[in-house]
Parts: sequence; C-alpha cells; structure tokens
Amino acid sequence: MTDPSAAEAQTPRRAIRSFVVRAGRMTPAQRQALDRLWPRYGVDLPPGELDLDAVFGRRAPRTLEIGFGMGDALLELAMAQPERDFLGVEVYPPGIGRFLLRLEQAGLGNVRVVCADAVEVLGRHLPPGGLDELLVLFPDPWPKKRHHKRRLVNAAFLALAARVLAPGGRLHIATDWADYAQAIAELLADNADFSAEPDTAARPPTKYQRRGERLGHAIVDFCLRRA
Ligand SMILES: C[S@@+](CC[C@H](N)C(=O)[O-])C[C@H]1O[C@@H](n2cnc3c(N)ncnc32)[C@H](O)[C@@H]1O
Repeated sequence: MTDPSAAEAQTPRRAIRSFVVRAGRMTPAQRQALDRLWPRYGVDLPPGELDLDAVFGRRAPRTLEIGFGMGDALLELAMAQPERDFLGVEVYPPGIGRFLLRLEQAGLGNVRVVCADAVEVLGRHLPPGGLDELLVLFPDPWPKKRHHKRRLVNAAFLALAARVLAPGGRLHIATDWADYAQAIAELLADNADFSAEPDTAARPPTKYQRRGERLGHAIVDFCLRRA
C-alpha cells in the first residue's frame, strides 16, 4: 500500500461510505514510513478471504480495531497483550504512516494494518467467526442529520460484526455523541446477536475521546458479547 488512493482501489465503490477520502496531505516522512514499513506491517487484501494465521504467522486470540486514527489504543493494547494479535483497519494513509513509525519504535510483532473500508473488510475479507474482539472507538459522528446515513454503526454493520466474531466474542463501541449513542442503544434493543456485558471493560483512552471530554461530551461505552 503505497498510494493514498489505495483504500479506494482495494474496495469496490459503495453508495454511502462512513468516510471521505482526503488525499494530498501526506508529509514526506509519512510517505517514506509507508514505503519502508508497509512490507513489514501492512496487509494487502486478496480478492477473497484473508488467511489470518498466515498474516500473523501463528494462531492467537485476535482483536480488530476499526478506524484506529492515531493508533493510541491499538498500540497500548498490543504492548500490554503480546499473547494476542491485533489488526488495525484505517482509511487515512497519512495516519497509517505515522502509526507504522510508532509500531517500529515500539518493536511490536503482534500488529498488522489494513488500509481499506472496514465494511468491505468485514463483509468480504474476514472469515466467519475469525475474531475474538472488535473495537470501534469514537467512529466519525456525522452530526448533521442529513449525514446520519454515513454513520458506520447501523443495523447492517452489526450484522457484519456478528458474522466475523466468534461465539462469545466481544464488540466494544464507544462514542461521545449523545444522539449517536442513543441510536446505537436503539439498534441493540432490537438485536439478538449481541448482549450487554455486565461490567464495562477498561480500554485505553484515545485522541477523539480526549477531544470529546474537552468539549464536555459524556463518553458512552457499549461492551457487548456475541451470542
Ligand atoms: C473520529 S476518528 C477516531 C479515531 C480514533 N479511534 C480515536 O478515537 O481517536 C474516526 C476514524 O475512523 C476512520 N474511518 C472512518 N470510516 C472508516 C471505515 N469505513 N473503515 C476504516 N476506517 C474508517 C477515519 O479515517 C478516522 O480515522
């Protein structure tokens, strides 16, 4: 993955996406990091299903984070749990470039990165039941009502999450947008695939969480278990 438009090239066009591809903002250092480190940490998607055992070179419990942004949470979790493998999916190449440098500095071997639309990754490229944990931390809120259709977490997304999680697997969604949290709660009330976990599992803070807190937003975490 060496081109900012690769996320688009790797994913067939859908009518409505949860992101807008922002091109042309890659610094030379980020470009260099992508070129140099992609062969080590990057995963180019095959036409069909990914072989996760081959990707990680072992079989271990697996966490996938969608939209890792700066990668604060992914990095902290991967450092704390070397016995697990972590796959990050993000569509913003400059951010991925920065994150690859952080991975290299931390010397982590249990993280891989995909640059593609997570909806396509979940729907086409992950084996059913292939994940133990799925994290969606502060997905883009698309606050304007006319943009709500772009929100990542909807009924179709929950069906994809149910497909890729093993029975008993965890889905953790966090948001600082009250009306998004309300919409997610309503979706979950009608959903038989996931049940709420009794206690909220700890997770590392993220950049967008801190932003929400500065704005005075309440943070809502949904900790769910796949039936
Ligand atoms: C609001 S930011 C949150 C970043 C980070 N999780 C945090 O909490 O700081 C949302 C991120 O999700 C990414 N994103 C949005 N839609 C996506 C999709 N369909 N697949 C992969 N990443 C996506 C965006 O590029 C962006 O980096």
